[in-house]
Amino acid sequence: MANVKKRLPTNIEGDFFVDETCINCDTCRQLASETFHEVDDCSAVYHQPREPSERLQAYQALLACPVGSIGTVTKHKGLHAKAQESFPIELAEGVFYNGFNSEKSFGANSYFINHLEGNWLIDSPRYLSPLVKAFEEMGGIRYIFLSHEDDVADADRYAKKFNATRIIHTADHEAMPDAEWIITGKDVVQANADFQLIPVPGHTDGSLALLYHEKFLFTGDHLWWDREQEMLGMPSRLVWNAEQLLQSTRRLLDFSFEWVLPGHGARIQLSSAKMQEEVKRLIDVRS
Ligand code: SF4
Ligand SMILES: [Fe+2]
Repeated sequence: MANVKKRLPTNIEGDFFVDETCINCDTCRQLASETFHEVDDCSAVYHQPREPSERLQAYQALLACPVGSIGTVTKHKGLHAKAQESFPIELAEGVFYNGFNSEKSFGANSYFINHLEGNWLIDSPRYLSPLVKAFEEMGGIRYIFLSHEDDVADADRYAKKFNATRIIHTADHEAMPDAEWIITGKDVVQANADFQLIPVPGHTDGSLALLYHEKFLFTGDHLWWDREQEMLGMPSRLVWNAEQLLQSTRRLLDFSFEWVLPGHGARIQLSSAKMQEEVKRLIDVRS
C-alpha cells in the first residue's frame, strides 16, 4: 500500500499520489496518461482525475502498479471494486490486458487471449484471486506463452491451477525449468491455425514473439511503441546480442500484423502497411 508520508513532492496536491517506492515501470502512465507523468525517473500525479472515466483509469493504474506506489488520501470502496472488476481489460476482439502487473517481472504487462480451442496467457500477472476468477469465467487457461526469462512472474502458479502448458524457448528455460513445451532453434512454430511462435533472439538468447491471427504481435521486451519518439523501439541496453536483435527485427518484415503488445513500453495499433513502414524505419534508425 502506498504511504502518504512517503508522498513524492513532485505530485500535484490532492487525493491521488505516488510515493517514493515507485520503480518507474511506466504501467500507470500507459493506463492513465491524463493523471500520471514522469518526473525525475518516477511517476507523479500532474492532474487529479475528476471525470468518472479518468477516476476509473487512475484507480486501474493504482491496482496495476506492481509495487503499490499509488495511493489515495481518502478511501474509495466503490471505485476500488469497479476497477478490480474491470480487469482483464478487453483491448480488441478477445484480446485482453490483465492488469495487476508483477514486481517479479519489473512490472511487465501480461495479456490473455480468449480462444475457442483454448485460452492463452501471455507472460504472467500477479497470482490474485480476482484474476483467477476472471480467467475461470472465461474458460480457464490452456497455454501460457512466456516471451522470455524476465517475465515469467507467477506463471508456475497459473499453470498448476489451470493445468496449462507453459511455452518457453530452451535458451531461456532456466527461468521455468519444468515448462511443458520447450521451443528450440530459430524456426517459426505454427502452434495451430491462429498462433505462430517466432524466435526473436536479441534482448535475450531465448526471446520469443507470439503472432495471433496475423494481427496481434506479442513482443515481450523485443519491440514496443515509444510514445516520446512516436516510433517503434527496441532495447539498446540489457541486450544479449545487438546484431541478432536487429536480425530478429528484420525477420518481422516477413509477417503481417497490426498490433504490437509488449511487456514493457506502450501498445500500438496501426494498419499492417503502416506497421511495416514503422518496422523498416526502426531498422534504418538502428542499422
Ligand atoms: S505503476 Fe507504480 S511503479 Fe510503475 S511507474 Fe507507476 S507508480 Fe511507479
Ligand atoms: Fe526483459
